Amino acid sequence: MRIALPPTLTLAFLLPATALAQEAADAVAPEAGTGLAVETSAPVTSETWMVAAANPLASEAGAAVLRRGGSAADAMVAVQAVLGLVEPQSSGLGGGAFLVYYDAETGEVTTLDGRETAPIAATPKLFLDDAGEPMGFFDAVVGGLSVGTPGTPMLMEEAHRRWGTLNWRSLFTDAIGHAEEGFPVSLRLSMLVTEDQERLSSSEATAAYFLPNGQPLQKGETLRNPAYGATLRAIAAEGADAFYEGEIAEGVVATVRGAAQPGVLSMDDMEAYTVKERAAVCAPYRGAEVCGMGPPSSGALTVGQILGLLEGFDLAAMGPDSPEAWRLIGDASRLAFADRGRYMADSDFVPVPTAGLVDPAYLAERAELLAGDMALTEVEPGNPPFDHAALHWADDQSLELPSTSHISIVDAAGNALSMTTTIENGFGSRLFAPGGFLLNNELTDFSFRTHDEGVPIANRVEPGKRPRSSMSPTIVMQDGEPVLVVGSPGGSRIIGYVAKTIIAHMDWGMDVQQAVALPHLVNRFGTYDLEAGTSAEALAEPLTELGFEVNVRDLTSGLHVIAVGETLEGGADPRREGMAIGE
Ligand code: GLY
Repeated sequence: MRIALPPTLTLAFLLPATALAQEAADAVAPEAGTGLAVETSAPVTSETWMVAAANPLASEAGAAVLRRGGSAADAMVAVQAVLGLVEPQSSGLGGGAFLVYYDAETGEVTTLDGRETAPIAATPKLFLDDAGEPMGFFDAVVGGLSVGTPGTPMLMEEAHRRWGTLNWRSLFTDAIGHAEEGFPVSLRLSMLVTEDQERLSSSEATAAYFLPNGQPLQKGETLRNPAYGATLRAIAAEGADAFYEGEIAEGVVATVRGAAQPGVLSMDDMEAYTVKERAAVCAPYRGAEVCGMGPPSSGALTVGQILGLLEGFDLAAMGPDSPEAWRLIGDASRLAFADRGRYMADSDFVPVPTAGLVDPAYLAERAELLAGDMALTEVEPGNPPFDHAALHWADDQSLELPSTSHISIVDAAGNALSMTTTIENGFGSRLFAPGGFLLNNELTDFSFRTHDEGVPIANRVEPGKRPRSSMSPTIVMQDGEPVLVVGSPGGSRIIGYVAKTIIAHMDWGMDVQQAVALPHLVNRFGTYDLEAGTSAEALAEPLTELGFEVNVRDLTSGLHVIAVGETLEGGADPRREGMAIGE
């Protein structure tokens, strides 16, 4: 068995930029690039199966299922059940997820939408104050108002119903054991609790779990969650109905309605929840098809647009250290985000020009905007082809902060799974249900404003609607077979992290671990974010000279990637605590 702990943050993360560039240039194989690339461990390799997830206990639970001959869907159930315990701030039963699945038997790519949903009693004015002005972001996040009907439990069940091979009940054994016997609190969980103490103290049940005796959980201390164990036992015995009906659901609804800032979620919302199969969105890139989650996620469309806009440029020849390559990537991303802000929302509620947004002819024409030498001074949405009357939407105004988690799995039969899973903000709404899990704040992914100067915003709140997401679970297909399974947390920067990883692997020939560790440069709305403490900082000056405003900051992705070829290669993001396991 090969196990890769996340490679330590080596030279690139510790040394000043000038030393960095030299050290990294010395360290990296010539074909993988020079200055920007970092020294990192080799990817995990395997002949049979691979799982990569955000916590070693979660990856181990998935590996145990795959070792027993389980499918990627079986392993996902085990991984998600453990993540909800050991990484409760990022995902869990109280949240939602999007799943992309390649079925080796049929050759089909299917996407499942387990997104949280606005309650029937939610109105477009949910996040407007009495004066009609948007609430402050965290005023809206903390409490019941932001909680959508959770989708993750039903998504787990639906994936197992379609593609599971092992007994459902058996998939929860590891998670129940960790919940009842205890698990060691990770450094990341302990640090995040410490940073978020004030908000976690806003609810008695939340404080009791995360701040026992008034003190933040400490790294390495053993934490038990018998309530979560009991919830898993009920779901293992009765299926997801145990979550959406009866005592567990009543606990969720009572927590939302009894919060200091109450929400409007009801038992009717819980009972009405459904997972939706959506058509996969696939965009061509370098002879492959980059497939992912369509609306209500903006992920596949925006990643697909970025890559489509870059298709006509020889990024491979430019290499990862070229300011020109990053000018093109940065401005392609800005153009894609302009379309995202205008057009992308839940397509069950607003018409979305899904095919038009990734139409190669549309993107080739729009890519002419990139023909100059300098950063674009103005970026406006384009006019993608659409068979409806012209769309008249105002640009979206919503703020997404990074949390979330990503799971990549390939099983021994060749099935591949890419699932991004979330409760939105770190610790979600800060409400802890009696069933031992946090509730999401996903509704704050809607635009708080309903209109801009009288023009409606596509991603406004509506009852029963699903908030627009940036989650980008992706499977890259070549000649009908998966070649890359990839995704990340990171709010709307997810899109940049995923696009960069695909470019690093496909254009710059990096292995998955190098591609994941490559420092981030992300541009969504004009400002170019460069990853602090890495060799990306060395690009600040050339990018400024090209006309970009730059900002050096932490960019905490959580990429988990599997390359599929003669062997499987797995990569885990050194910025978090994840692990790839294969054997
Ligand atoms: N809440 C993160 C996302 O859905 O993009």
